[in-house]
Amino acid sequence: MPKLIVVNRAGEEQAVDGDSGLSVMEVIRDNGFDELLALCGGCCSCATCHVYVDPAFADQLPAMSEDENDLLDSSDHRNETSRLSCQLFMSDEIENLKVTIAPED
Ligand code: FES
Repeated sequence: MPKLIVVNRAGEEQAVDGDSGLSVMEVIRDNGFDELLALCGGCCSCATCHVYVDPAFADQLPAMSEDENDLLDSSDHRNETSRLSCQLFMSDEIENLKVTIAPED
């Protein structure tokens, strides 16, 4: 099972397991990180699942959709590593993907 490394807003790092095919957002929520609101439940319409992805994984992630890009633009905290975690999926090919929960807007 692929592992996900999550850094919370306090800077604490924790490795969690997540079934391949689950979204990164689901894995973060399922492991009790209540900082990640994910209000729309993964429909790509709220931007409250914003994370920063470790740049080492940038090449391995799917391209961003126009909707994801527009939503991220609505955040004051967007940077070049920003993604919506409901649009990223656990995969056996990506081991130890590392994400940091972005500050709340
Ligand atoms: S959970 Fe709403 S955009 Fe990801």
